[in-house]
Amino acid sequence: MRYLAAKCASGSNPAGRRDREKMTMSLAKVILLTMTTAMAAHGTVTKATFGNTSDGTAVDIYTLKTEGIEAQVMTYGARVVSIKTPDRDGKVANVVLGYSALDGYLDDGKTYFGAIVGRYGNRIALGKFSIDGHQYQVPVNNNANSLHGGTVGFDKQVWKAHEVADGVEMTLVSKDGDQGYPGTLTAHVRYTVHHGALRIDYSVSTDKATVVNLTNHSYFNLAGDGKGTILDNEMMIPADKFTPVDAGLIPTGVLAPVEGTPFDFRKATVIGKRINDDNEQLKIAGGYDHNWVLRGQNGEMKTAARVYEPGSGRVLTVTTTEPGVQFYSGNFLDGTKYGKAQEGFVKNAALCLETQHFPDSPNHPSFPTTELKPGETRHSTTTFTFTTHAK
Ligand code: GLA
Repeated sequence: MRYLAAKCASGSNPAGRRDREKMTMSLAKVILLTMTTAMAAHGTVTKATFGNTSDGTAVDIYTLKTEGIEAQVMTYGARVVSIKTPDRDGKVANVVLGYSALDGYLDDGKTYFGAIVGRYGNRIALGKFSIDGHQYQVPVNNNANSLHGGTVGFDKQVWKAHEVADGVEMTLVSKDGDQGYPGTLTAHVRYTVHHGALRIDYSVSTDKATVVNLTNHSYFNLAGDGKGTILDNEMMIPADKFTPVDAGLIPTGVLAPVEGTPFDFRKATVIGKRINDDNEQLKIAGGYDHNWVLRGQNGEMKTAARVYEPGSGRVLTVTTTEPGVQFYSGNFLDGTKYGKAQEGFVKNAALCLETQHFPDSPNHPSFPTTELKPGETRHSTTTFTFTTHAK
């Protein structure tokens, strides 16, 4: 640049002027290139319409893009709709399950594809809990228990959204008594993209003591959306303990060692290797659908899981400030076809890594608390980072 500027300054004859003009042009190009490069280091965010819910509410979709990742997030359920990342040869594919149009999501009330689930991610036994001596009853929508916030959880509500640097922030105000939960809860969920990573920052506050456990329910298939099952994926979860469940998938309250069980993923292990073992916990859930107790402090950023898909070479690393992760091997996916496009997914077509507080914490005083009091703001962060591994 300094060289170009010096050349521009020299000469006043016509040839010199032409030279000067050329140099000015080159200088402008260099400046433009520098600006574009600087801009490329930041994510771009674009907004479009995705459709309307049955009551006519408009749903928007945001596309967040930066090096190594393009993620789409919509306002219905603050859901991740797609995440595109390159494989080891640079071939880009969508690595989360989803539908091509909104009606697929509206039609499918069971899978929670890509959603922010809440107010209480995962189960509350019999839908009952008490806070400061008050008993609360929330909807029972999963056998005898309450799952993912009730009949009309956060996954089925249209969130407000506004663009932020490198992403979008979604906001939902859930009124006092919404699905039986106490307190008006304000939830902010911020999605941002950073060099091959999708980051989710949660922050929640309330005006009355309540319980809250938000998570993201994306279904990952690192080979690409709709490409076989995740049974040949290798996974590592750095956890020494997990929370075994009863027949209704409610934690018994015991923190059981993973040592010597099919729940030991401390060393990367092929998911399908032990999934059909003669193990009571696997039989109850029809595969993996359990919470692992992560090492390290609640509130501290730590690794929750790493998954490697050998065919594409894609690696997903999940880090979180949450104390647990629910590894769900897509056991209830049964090929049911949803929406006008009649899209469906088979058992084990993807896996979920739901970073969270433990299921049914309101009924287990020994688990890290999910209570939130007025005046407090709870923050939580989870990142999904995509890299590749050579053959
Ligand atoms: C969570 C639960 C599963 C199942 C899925 C959604 O992962 O633990 O049992 O309900 O959500 O289908």
